[in-house]
Amino acid sequence: MSLRNSVFIATSLDGYIAREDGSIGWLDEASATVPEGEDFGYNAFFESVDVLITGRKTFDQVLTFAEWPYADKPVVVQTRRPLEVPERLAQVTPSAEEPRALVQRLEAQGARRAYVDGGVTIQRFLAAGLIDDLIITTIPILLGKGIPLFGPLEQDVHLAHVSTQSYKCGFVQTTWRVVYTT
Ligand SMILES: NC(=O)c1ccc[n+]([C@@H]2O[C@H](COP(=O)([O-])OP(=O)(O)OC[C@H]3O[C@@H](n4cnc5c(N)ncnc54)[C@H](OP(=O)(O)O)[C@@H]3O)[C@@H](O)[C@H]2O)c1
Repeated sequence: MSLRNSVFIATSLDGYIAREDGSIGWLDEASATVPEGEDFGYNAFFESVDVLITGRKTFDQVLTFAEWPYADKPVVVQTRRPLEVPERLAQVTPSAEEPRALVQRLEAQGARRAYVDGGVTIQRFLAAGLIDDLIITTIPILLGKGIPLFGPLEQDVHLAHVSTQSYKCGFVQTTWRVVYTT
């Protein structure tokens, strides 16, 4: 596939991306300790993607933010239900396509790199063999329970370590490349 699908996400040390109720106050609190101007490479990453593929639950959460964070980049929301999209967000479209069909469509439309977001959504793309790289920022906190980044898999997913950077604030960012053998 020529569409590169990338994950850029923050997790607790025990692998959760949100509490069980979907809240991310723990992440906001940790982010408040970060020196001004440090974005952990997010802006450069965001600039490098043409399209976002996000789960409906993540989309719902993003809608509660004070500002829409994705400018006018196209956002595809994976959902099996009707999606209410505010009128000002004409670039947001719902999709119930399976990951492979969605990737093929986006490729045909000329997309080169997608930002895949949301736990279940990332897991569906991983299971379909469609994630190329993961940039995971580990936050120094244990939540004990919550919404996991990863889940059950039919087969192992092999990874190559690309880089790890640690920050004074305690965040540790590791980039992984998924290794496909077939
Ligand atoms: N820590 C971070 O950096 C970070 C980043 C992103 C998100 N989050 C948090 O993660 C939480 C959301 O993650 P999540 O794992 O619960 O969900 P998600 O991946 O954001 O969304 C899950 C939704 O995807 C849709 N879906 C599932 N299977 C599908 C299929 N076969 N076809 C089409 N659509 C399908 C369903 O929507 P319908 O129910 O509408 O059908 C499902 O509810 C939020 O609390 C968010 O704040 C944290």
